[in-house]
Amino acid sequence: MDIIDKLIKDHRLTGEEYIALLALAEDPSAVERLKEEACRLRRQYYGDKVYIRGLIEFTDYCKNDCYYCGIRRGNAKAQRYRLTKEEILSCCENGYSLGFRTFVLQGGEDPYYTDERLEEIVRSIKAGYPDCAVTLSVGERSYASYARLRKAGADRYLLRHETADEEHYRKLHPPQMSLAERKACLYQLKELGYQVGAGFMVGSPGQTEQTIAQDLLFLKELEPQMVGIGPFIPHHATRFAKETPGSVELTLFLLSVIRILLPKVLLPATTALGTLDPYGREKGLAVGANVVMPNLSPVKDRKKYELYDHKICTGEEAAECRECLARRVEAAGYRIVEGRGDAET
Ligand code: 5AD
Ligand code: FES
Repeated sequence: MDIIDKLIKDHRLTGEEYIALLALAEDPSAVERLKEEACRLRRQYYGDKVYIRGLIEFTDYCKNDCYYCGIRRGNAKAQRYRLTKEEILSCCENGYSLGFRTFVLQGGEDPYYTDERLEEIVRSIKAGYPDCAVTLSVGERSYASYARLRKAGADRYLLRHETADEEHYRKLHPPQMSLAERKACLYQLKELGYQVGAGFMVGSPGQTEQTIAQDLLFLKELEPQMVGIGPFIPHHATRFAKETPGSVELTLFLLSVIRILLPKVLLPATTALGTLDPYGREKGLAVGANVVMPNLSPVKDRKKYELYDHKICTGEEAAECRECLARRVEAAGYRIVEGRGDAET
């Protein structure tokens, strides 16, 4: 039995088998078979539905210094901003009227947002929009903090693991950060009943077939409800400014593989994918992705949340992105559904 048959049958491979699978990433017939199976599974569980998440980038202050990221503390040129609770709620109001029923609050690790302040924001959103899911994406916090935010009403949490290989993790992050801590956070979030999202960048400096194999093993072990992957894109004010961006083709290949590993997973066609290829998000949907995350942040601040260069959709109003995506999703043969969009169980 060949390796793709084995993946399709078992929904998992060993580390060595993943490495063998990755060697087929440029083999057109392998790519096609994986894509077909990924689409079949996506259709089986989600039909032609595409879920939308309204992304609110509410702070670009960050106490961390991840080497790849444009809003890391060490970037003195980043223009820092924070949204007030009122501004966040007005993003939600706008989003709600556009059909969004999930709000993703994403930000740097900003100490200004204490548990009290974040709880207050989460509670206000849940009080105003009880039929909506609130997703947090605010990095590493204590177990007690995750517990309080969960109690305040947060439903989901996105925390990409970035790479599941120790050595690679150290190449991407300053010594104060650790893969062990990152993994511990993900398990704690799961234990607290959050729907959890992990993920990694494709083509980050130092990534190899071995490290990707580790990522896939880790994803299968964690069994997150969501997985976010997108190509690495250099940011001009980081040490990786001159590195080559990740490959769109490899990202698409991995989207298919992840759909097969975790058939019911919520898998976004990311903004980074749409940034490297004008049809990146459509291509993502065509290989197994089933989520898109347009931006609801105020246009005045959009450009400042610059994780990487040339990010798309920084000049468009939320309504424009919503319409643009509806058109794109339909042209690709899918349809946007307006609901919380929880994972199939
Ligand atoms: N290129 C692509 N993705 C990036 N992220 C951060 N910096 C970059 C970059 N230069 C991703 C990280 C993070 C998410 C919010 O954005 O994976 O978890
Ligand atoms: Fe923002 Fe197309 S999704 S302009």
